[in-house]
Amino acid sequence: ADKNSEQQVGIVGSGLIGHSFAMIYAASGYRVQIYDIKPEQVQHALSTIDEQLEHLAKNGLLRGKLTVKEQRSLITGTNDLAECVKDAFFIQECVYEDLDLKRGVHAKIDGLCKDDAIIASSASALIPSLISQNLKHKNRFIVCHPTNPPFYAPLVEVIPAPWTDPDVVVTTKQLLAETGQVPVIVKKEIDGFVLNRIQYSIIGECWRLYEEGVMSVEDIDKVMSEGLGRRYAFMGPLETAYLNADGMYNYGDKYREMIYRVQCTFGAPRKMEGPTLDKIQNELTSRIPLDQLNERRKWRDIRLASLQKLKNDLDKK
Ligand code: NAI
Repeated sequence: ADKNSEQQVGIVGSGLIGHSFAMIYAASGYRVQIYDIKPEQVQHALSTIDEQLEHLAKNGLLRGKLTVKEQRSLITGTNDLAECVKDAFFIQECVYEDLDLKRGVHAKIDGLCKDDAIIASSASALIPSLISQNLKHKNRFIVCHPTNPPFYAPLVEVIPAPWTDPDVVVTTKQLLAETGQVPVIVKKEIDGFVLNRIQYSIIGECWRLYEEGVMSVEDIDKVMSEGLGRRYAFMGPLETAYLNADGMYNYGDKYREMIYRVQCTFGAPRKMEGPTLDKIQNELTSRIPLDQLNERRKWRDIRLASLQKLKNDLDKK
């Protein structure tokens, strides 16, 4: 970690994702500079980080080997983009999901960063070649799509553009793994990458089941949290299938007809609008009022952090 403190990470855009990445890199001992077009967002990010570090420490869930004070002292805010990126070996852009905005911000970073810096974007769906096609440093560009909240959900989808240098992929993977995040490589550019494609197929089916009166919102969510999700926190759907029979051939023999028959009833996608939207919103609001979302997010984050701790303990990390 001592050596890491000589290296700087630049965070451009310090909202939800930006402040969380700042905490992730600081927990591994890197110096972190956070920048935002709105100075008050930088201040807000710094105070959110203070609050979260204290909260984590109180619950015994602090990451890494450094104390709250040590981690906090590695993070500084700036209102100057040049200061944020000029010495950084790794830059994580976390501005709104808007192609023109991201292109503009990356054009500026491009003119300020070191030639060998890695420039990562947190884009959720914008493919890397679209964002980076006109950059001088486009060979140093990569998308690192985190899972919200990144500090508590370690998966990061790493998506190179066709022109991204191979060493950028390798170093990005190593850096993320070192911080405790879990990188996966998306080998081809595809709309929605992988996490959201899977997530949207789940949301789509939940929507349909509710709309057709098959189940309540609360019970649909339980199917995941008390059923599928219990296994999925430890192994994915493919290994789950593999273990649910004697291997994949056997699973196919036993279930392929049934799975195919049910899949054929899924139908076309539906838009999240109209009376179904009203009903789902109302059912959720009656249980979790809109003014209590932050409380509920804290409830969630402590459980996610505890699950991480459990997984680390089980795997003796
Ligand atoms: P956010 O709205 O919390 O933060 C965006 C920040 O960017 C704001 O503080 C804003 O002031 C700043 N900004 C706007 N223009 C800027 C500029 N020109 N220069 C510097 N800063 C600027 O948004 P959030 O949720 O943090 O999203 C950031 C990125 O991360 C987006 O691409 C989003 O799709 C992606 N992402 C978001 C996830 C989520 O669940 N929130 C999950 C995974 C990725």
